[in-house]
Amino acid sequence: MQSKKAVLAVLAAASIGMLVSPEAIADDGPRLSPRISQGDILGMNQRSIRAHGLRIFSTPFNLEDGLGDGPINPADTVSPGGRPTLGNNGIFLRMNGLDAQTCLECHSVLSNATIPSTFTVGGVGNVSDSAFPGMVDPDIDDSEGNGFARISGRMINPPFSFGSGGVEMLAKEMTRDLQALKAQAEANPGASIALETKGVSFGWISFDGVNFDTSDVEGVDDDLVIRPFGRKGCCQTIRQFDQGAMQFHHGIQPSEIVGDGVDADGDGVVNELSVGELSAMHIFQTSMERPRQDRVRRGARRGRDLFASIGCADCHRPSLTTEDRHLPIAFPEVDEDPWANVFFEIDLSRSPTKFKRHGHGVRVELFADLKRHDMGPGLAETTGDALDPFFHTARLWGVADTAPYMHDGRAVTISQAILLHGGEGQASRDEFDALDADQQDDVVAFLKTLRTPRNPSNDLLNGNRHHDDDDD
Ligand code: HEC
Ligand code: HEC
Repeated sequence: MQSKKAVLAVLAAASIGMLVSPEAIADDGPRLSPRISQGDILGMNQRSIRAHGLRIFSTPFNLEDGLGDGPINPADTVSPGGRPTLGNNGIFLRMNGLDAQTCLECHSVLSNATIPSTFTVGGVGNVSDSAFPGMVDPDIDDSEGNGFARISGRMINPPFSFGSGGVEMLAKEMTRDLQALKAQAEANPGASIALETKGVSFGWISFDGVNFDTSDVEGVDDDLVIRPFGRKGCCQTIRQFDQGAMQFHHGIQPSEIVGDGVDADGDGVVNELSVGELSAMHIFQTSMERPRQDRVRRGARRGRDLFASIGCADCHRPSLTTEDRHLPIAFPEVDEDPWANVFFEIDLSRSPTKFKRHGHGVRVELFADLKRHDMGPGLAETTGDALDPFFHTARLWGVADTAPYMHDGRAVTISQAILLHGGEGQASRDEFDALDADQQDDVVAFLKTLRTPRNPSNDLLNGNRHHDDDDD
């Protein structure tokens, strides 16, 4: 039986159809609604902010939201000359961004270990959700008449946001430690200072009275800021990643990047995303529940010991601990000073994030070292004119549920992923290869205990039923 509401909806649609032209049908309007400001955020509790963050992450942007970069436009300051788009529609390209209407399109898989897959907001993506950044000299229109479009660039597979608050906290504390060691070098000209934080070594630094010598710094940028987000390590915080993701994937220009009231991409829309809206996304993603671990039994227990003895744990550190459990959320952010301009704090030990307490801090069981490693020529990718073999250690938490593996998803099984390690990972990979088949199975069985959370954002999604169900 049709509900009363459904009948009214049909009547309303019929009467609108008679009154308005096709250009003005309701679903052409902006989808991002309500709009919120940083002032609104400051007056809200964590749950309300998270709900807004989840909403913005899941909103399919429309033309009136500022989707796309606009048609190729000489005044375009975001991507001078413009990104080529399908029929110059200004919206979609797929190669080199402009590849989706919503973040959710690529970040929606909770587990690929179930059939069918299970879904949530903020999960991983499959190979068809890959992104193609850093395209060099594209020739989409085949201007050279080769009979095909020419592209050269990177292909990368989307990771999840579960537990990213713990990762961000580690990055901030490690950055603070490294900045203090840098200051120590500056105060002691000529001395070589070891850059070690949380048991991870980043080489040495010295100061000659005028300049720093960073030639022995390893696994981190020369400014000694830990940037764990992005597979190459581009961003210290989720906010920084999201700023770029909005521009790259959707052509949505955050005001905090392009300026208030500025139409930087020439699509006729200004203030496409406010400071408060990015704050809501940042807080939603960094408060997401951490990945979990199944009980480690028999074979898996032997696998855990092997994982350490053959050197996997040198990079994939089972856990790192924080000194404090309150993640600072700041705006504007200052990379070298992560506690500047803090306007909100997330208690990482509490629901929904749920990290285990460790002293005044928390234990983050991430299976990584927040360090960049040379993974050898086989995994290197094109960036600009060069091949770049450096990647941040993949965090193995949740790995049982997140096939395919490696930065571009080239491995569909865990053992395939292990055997692809080269460079700094070669020796450990060779030790794995030399194990007998049962031992290899044990290592994989151990990694299969590392699961994504059961029901992340549960408190926000339970009430998210379709409107038409309201009368049931
Ligand atoms: C076309 C698919 C696609 C869309 C759409 C997309 N992403 Fe991603 N996302 C990716 C890929 C691929 C990566 C890996 C990027 C890298 O390593 O540099 C990624 C990485 C991330 C990361 C870093 C996670 C980490 O742990 O390193 C965050 C945060 C993120 N995306 C947020 C977003 C947000 C917010 C949106 C919407 C504005 C979005 N993504 C839209 C594919 C996508
Ligand atoms: C030198 C540091 C290093 C060592 C040692 C190392 N790994 Fe890795 N591992 C990495 C990096 C970096 C990546 C990401 C590579 C990429 O994305 O292409 C990775 C990726 C992985 C992945 C894929 C994860 C995913 O989500 O894509 C698995 C599984 C893995 N490693 C397991 C192991 C095992 C098991 C060992 C020991 C035999 C090991 N690793 C040794 C650095 C290391």
